[in-house]
Amino acid sequence: MSTEKATKIIAVTNHKGGCGKTTTVVNLAAELGRLGWQVLVVDLDPQANASLHIGKKHPSEVKVSCAELLALDIAKLPLAIHDETHLENVSLIYGSLTLGKAEDDLKESAPRPSEELKTKLEPLIGLYDFILIDCPPSLKLLTSNALAAATHFMIPVESGSQYGMYGVTDLMRHVDKIRRINPNLTFLGTLLIRHDERQTVCKLIENAAQEQIGKLIPVRIPTSTKVNQAAMAQLSLFDLDKNARITKEFQRLAAFMVSELGLKQEVKHGS
Ligand SMILES: Nc1ncnc2c1ncn2[C@@H]1O[C@H](COP(=O)(O)OP(=O)(O)O)[C@@H](O)[C@H]1O
Ligand SMILES: [Mg+2]
Repeated sequence: MSTEKATKIIAVTNHKGGCGKTTTVVNLAAELGRLGWQVLVVDLDPQANASLHIGKKHPSEVKVSCAELLALDIAKLPLAIHDETHLENVSLIYGSLTLGKAEDDLKESAPRPSEELKTKLEPLIGLYDFILIDCPPSLKLLTSNALAAATHFMIPVESGSQYGMYGVTDLMRHVDKIRRINPNLTFLGTLLIRHDERQTVCKLIENAAQEQIGKLIPVRIPTSTKVNQAAMAQLSLFDLDKNARITKEFQRLAAFMVSELGLKQEVKHGS
């Protein structure tokens, strides 16, 4: 491969299910890949939704998924990485249902149960520009592993729901605990999902996020039926409808990440 990259490992996390983690990982990966960055998606959710969306195989057919990677010898790492996905410049370590068991096993047998993923991803540092980790909807060991391995994290919050902020303070407390083993973990901000500035609930959630977490990503993802359509068709939002408003917002999110993380933006599409 080419020159050494300053790999950014980004955990997309919120233990609240259905708030847009997987949609964010998939479409951010798609946009970064389209810009020419090398991206690896790590699907750490037993539901494997990101894998179902972008993978060319069914997660049940994959021999070395994240679950096996966590349990196995590090020599097996190359078997876990699948370069063929439905997205350009995006590779994938699949999620699988067995991640639940892998989580229990880690708890029982690993010397440092929260740091197993970090160890396993270490050899990949320098090979990718971005490693995006899709987290499960819980604050247990898999999420701890994601946060311990990450350089950065972001929190999608569903701003169209009155319960959108529920549990976020628990999440921030959990992050504080992980910072004892990963002191450089940097917060990128909260990403408001299904946001509509005309709705009172969205305004209230936006204000609550600002007050309770203090850092908002300056991009708002609107509600769009295209999100489900794209997932069903195994396409990115760009490939489904490059002119849709939601596609433009994911492009703005990718541009924000590139500038926030201090990367140079002159990478060509398709290079
Ligand atoms: N901006 C959006 N507009 C409409 N539907 C969305 C949007 N974001 C997510 N969804 C839908 O909401 C559901 C949950 O989103 P998902 O990204 O899977 O959340 P999580 O990974 O946090 O559980 C999915 O069915 C997804 O298609
Ligand atoms: Mg998900």
